[in-house]
Formats: sequence, structure tokens, C-alpha cells
Amino acid sequence: MAQPFNKYVYYEKSVQNPSNEVEFFNEKYEELRGAKAKTLREDFCGTAAISCEWVKQSAEHKAWGIDLDPEPIDYGMNNHYAQLDDEAKSRMKYIEGNVLNSGTPTVDICFAFNFSYFIFKKRDELLTYFKAAREALNDGGVFFMDLFGGPDSIQENTDIISHEGFKYFWECQMFNPMTNDCRFAIHFKRKGEQKRKDVFVYNWRMWGMMELRDLLLEAGFSKTIGYWEGEDDDGGGDGDFFATDEAEQCEAWVTYIAALK
Ligand SMILES: C[S@@+](CC[C@H](N)C(=O)[O-])C[C@H]1O[C@@H](n2cnc3c(N)ncnc32)[C@H](O)[C@@H]1O
Repeated sequence: MAQPFNKYVYYEKSVQNPSNEVEFFNEKYEELRGAKAKTLREDFCGTAAISCEWVKQSAEHKAWGIDLDPEPIDYGMNNHYAQLDDEAKSRMKYIEGNVLNSGTPTVDICFAFNFSYFIFKKRDELLTYFKAAREALNDGGVFFMDLFGGPDSIQENTDIISHEGFKYFWECQMFNPMTNDCRFAIHFKRKGEQKRKDVFVYNWRMWGMMELRDLLLEAGFSKTIGYWEGEDDDGGGDGDFFATDEAEQCEAWVTYIAALK
């Protein structure tokens, strides 16, 4: 008998790698600040798999995850938080709330991943969010965000990635070049089963690297850094991100911005 379908299982297998994410934060924070980060706030945390991974590092590591939706929080609590020992559990907290106004103790790192802040379509809304993220940081804290782009990424078509036992589909369903309003959707197909369509749907505004960096400065951050991914021998990404303002155009890319308080 096939396991019942749970969308968070397939979402996480397709788009997240918490130990890589933790390694990225450790490496980049130390490069930028010459110290080790201990506290983390995961905005738009969903299941907060990354926060749960973060607190495994030492008894000094603490994390807060914030999401509006109780459903992924529930999944995260039953599947990630539940696997922590009691001491580590005391250092990780889920907050069902809005990233715009959920107070947390200040942290070394705040981050917004999987493009979740694209939900803010108005410049003022995004500015308000960046101010809230900055307020959440210790002096010397760093805010990280990811972003994607490239001409291929805004074509109305579907990327398909095969995983063991299932396929993941990332579809650009609509892109309005006048406003950068866009709709993306995730579908899954388990082996031997019908395709499950529109399992996750995102109505976003696609923001660009420099408009984000300008807005981060306007929100009060002292400096921003744009990263770009190195290339492997076949011309694909090598998973190594370095600070630069120069990059060659490519069909589709995913990268990061760091903003220093
Ligand atoms: C694209 S998912 C990303 C989940 C997770 N961060 C990840 O990387 O996979 C966006 C998440 O943001 C949450 N969300 C949207 N608006 C929010 C807000 N204003 N405050 C907190 N969470 C929000 C949604 O409930 C959803 O779980």
C-alpha cells in the first residue's frame, strides 16, 4: 500500500536541504562578521526544517520560526521538532504569526527563503517587511534572502525534476511584463499515480536584485552583498556562492543577497 500523500514530504524533498542551508549561514556569517552566529529567525518558516537543523549544532544555538499558516507548522512540529531531544526543543520556538509584527528576541541571522517575500507586491509593503527584518537583528546581525531570475524563469513553461519515486514540476503559469506579477505552481506525480496539480500555488511579484538591494538600504541596512553561483565543468551551478557585482547572463538562476544591519 502506498503511503498517504503528504504535500510537505514531497515539497521538502524537492526544494529544501536544511544541512546545506545551515552550512551556508555558518560560512557566510563568519566571512562577513568574523564570528559564529548562534541565533536564527526563519521568516515564512513553513515547516521550519532549517530552524530545527540549526538548534542541533550546540547548546548555544537558538531558533525562532514564524509562519501565518498552522498547517505547515503542525507538520514541522510532528516531523522535525519531534525528533529533537528535550534540551534542543527548549531552544526552538514556532510562532504562528505575521513576519511584519511578530516580536522575537533579536538574532544574529534572519532569513526569508524560497522567495517567500515575493508575496509583498507593493514597494511600501516590502519596505515595511525589510524594516521588520532589520529590527529583528542584533547589532552586527545579517539578513539573508534568496531570489531567482533569468529569461527562462519567466517563460510560461514547466521544469520537471525526477526524484526517487516521484516527479516534481515547477510551472510558471503567468508572468505580466508590465507589473512583474506572476503565478508559479508546484505539481507532483508519484510513480504509478495521477499527477497532483497545483499542490502549491504562488501569486507573487518578481523582484530584481538591484531593486531589492536599494530597498534594503532604504530600510536602514548599512550594506548589501549580492552573491552569484560558481560553475561546474558542464556549465551548471557548482553550489558555491561568492560575492560579486559582475555576472554573465544565463537562462535561469537562483542566488542570495545578504544585508548587514
Ligand atoms: C513559499 S512558502 C516557503 C516556506 C519555507 N520558508 C521554505 O523555504 O520552504 C511561503 C510561506 O510563507 C507563509 N507566509 C506568507 N505570508 C506570510 C506572512 N506575512 N507572515 C508569515 N508567514 C507568511 C506561508 O504560509 C507559507 O508557509
